Amino acid sequence: MPSKKSPAQKGDKVSQDSPRSRTAKKHTPRNERTPSVTYVRDLKGKRPIVALTAYDAPMAKLVSDAGVDFLLVGDSVGTTMLGFGTTIRVTLDAMVHHTAAVRRGNPDCLILADLPFGEASLSFDRLLEACRRLMQEGGADGVKIEGGKDVADDIERLIATGIPVMGHVGLLPQTVKAIGGYRKFANDKEEAQDIFTDAIALEEAGCFAIVFEMIREEVATELTRHLEIPTIGIGSGSGCDGQILVTTDVLGLTPGDVPSFVKPYAQLAGEAGKALGRFVGDVREGRYPKS
Ligand code: KIV
Repeated sequence: MPSKKSPAQKGDKVSQDSPRSRTAKKHTPRNERTPSVTYVRDLKGKRPIVALTAYDAPMAKLVSDAGVDFLLVGDSVGTTMLGFGTTIRVTLDAMVHHTAAVRRGNPDCLILADLPFGEASLSFDRLLEACRRLMQEGGADGVKIEGGKDVADDIERLIATGIPVMGHVGLLPQTVKAIGGYRKFANDKEEAQDIFTDAIALEEAGCFAIVFEMIREEVATELTRHLEIPTIGIGSGSGCDGQILVTTDVLGLTPGDVPSFVKPYAQLAGEAGKALGRFVGDVREGRYPKS
C-alpha cells in the first residue's frame, strides 16, 4: 500500500482557502460554517459532513439555508434537469451556466462545480481552461473531478495553480458507457485495492476531500479510516466522513427512478402536479382570476 504524507507536507503546497472566506465572514450561527475548503477538510473526525447538489439560484439558496457544509453543482444536472439519460452530454458551457446561476442565488457556503465529461482527458491546458471558466465565469470556489491515479498528476498541478479540487472514486457516472451500467464498486479484492490506490493518489495530489460513490460499505469505511482527508459518501454506507445526495432525489422531484440508497424526504413532484392541476381547473371553471 502506498505511503501517506503528513498533513504538514500537504498544507505546505497551496492554501485551498477560498479568498471570499477572508473578506465575507458570513457565518451560519447553527454550525459556524465558512465557505472554505479548509473548513470542510477540518470537519473530519468532528462531525458528519453534509452536502447536496444545486443547479439554479433558488435551489442554491434553499440548500444553503438548510445548513449544508458545501453544495455541488453536479453534472447530474443533465439527468435531473436537462432531460439527458446520462451525464455524458453535459457540456462545459452548461456547467458554467448552471454554476453562475447557483452563485447568483447567493448561498453562503462553499460552491463546487463538476468538471464535465472529457475535459480532463485531452491536455492539461484544456483542463486548466475548463477549471478557470468554472471559477472565473461560473463563480465556483473549486471543482470536483472524477478519476483516480490517472488524473492525480494533473490535479496536483491544478492545486498548485490555486484550484481547490475534490476527488471522486468508485462509480464514475461519466464512464457509464464504458463500464456498461451503474453498479456497486469494490466487490472483489482487486477492485478494492484499485480504489485504495486511487484514493491515496488523490490525497497525495492535494485533494481536500474525495467523493466515494457506490463503494462497498466495508471498503469505504476502512479507507475513510486510513485517509487524512474527508470522504463524502453516496451509496457507500455510513462509514464515510460525510454524505452527499442529489437534491431532486431527496425532494422527490427527479423524473423516473432514483437509486435504492436514496431516502426521499418529500414528494414535491406529486404536490406540484396537484397545484398545477388546480390552477388549470380554476382558469377553465372561471374561478381565476376573480373580477
Ligand atoms: O453529479 C453529481 O451530482 C455528483 C454526486 C456526487 C452527487 O457527482
